[in-house]
Amino acid sequence: MAGSLAPTWGDTSLITGASIVAGVVGRPVAHSLSPILHNAWLEAAGVDGVYVAFSPDALGFERFVRGMRGGAIRGVNVTLPFKEAALGLADQVSDAARRAQAANLLIFDTDGQVYADNTDGVGLLGAFAAQAPQYDVTAGPSVVLGAGGAARGAVSALLAAGSPRVWIVNRTLEKAEAIAADLGRNVSALPLNHAVGAFRDTRAIINATSAGLSGQGSLDIPLELTPEDTVVMDMVYKPLETPFLKQARDLGRATVDGLEMLIRQAEPSFEAFYGQPPPKGVDVRGLALKALNP
Ligand code: ATR
Repeated sequence: MAGSLAPTWGDTSLITGASIVAGVVGRPVAHSLSPILHNAWLEAAGVDGVYVAFSPDALGFERFVRGMRGGAIRGVNVTLPFKEAALGLADQVSDAARRAQAANLLIFDTDGQVYADNTDGVGLLGAFAAQAPQYDVTAGPSVVLGAGGAARGAVSALLAAGSPRVWIVNRTLEKAEAIAADLGRNVSALPLNHAVGAFRDTRAIINATSAGLSGQGSLDIPLELTPEDTVVMDMVYKPLETPFLKQARDLGRATVDGLEMLIRQAEPSFEAFYGQPPPKGVDVRGLALKALNP
């Protein structure tokens, strides 16, 4: 645009007949930040590729995956509510996806095979490494709040990374107990109103409930009773500073946010789609923050 120094999206993007196509599948998906991250990396790396969003209805996800078999596109990230279904539709499943019982990444091979993986665990631990590098997952117990798909993924990732014990704390105790029974004897369950029972020696406390999302209720957790060096993490990133993270910061606890996890899970996904790691030095966090707070 004449007179404007700021490049606008699309100025230098490179889309040709040979473009590698990947994307994200979810419902709703219009507010997904993944297209912003991946397309910024594609543009900076000069890769001939594109990343778009797809939103089949609840019954249409299976048809979508069937239609992509054979490599019509390279692959997709999968988000709510399709992560569990994605696992069931794949021909090959990585250990991480099997442990999480969910897939956030599907790759469509040209021979018709569908490969499922889960990079959320890499994202979770990568976010801790970036924002609270003092956290050592092997040094003591961690606490996960919630017992849905996100919580199960977090617990399985912490165990795989060498956590000696994980406490699952959930409003509905039975759901926490079911995950604990499935994931082995280093996992214990407690109801939310007895969360304090899990605080002794804890190294990290991770919110994997939907509480704290804009418009949802917030959590009532006595964080002041956790050890002072407990790192507090929230998977929710809308708002970026949830009431839970604000409570932690007010107590002087180190914190890790959900946006960092989103960025870190996108990195191995990018490499799976486009055959190279994302380029360094792109301020994707800044771009995502701008999209979150236009
Ligand atoms: P996801 O698949 O994203 O993990 P989910 O399966 O709907 O989502 O799970 C949401 C989790 O958030 C559940 O553990 C839920 O607690 P219950 O099992 O008791 O329903 C938890 N949750 C949601 N809102 C909450 C709130 N206001 N306080 C405490 N826990 C809450």
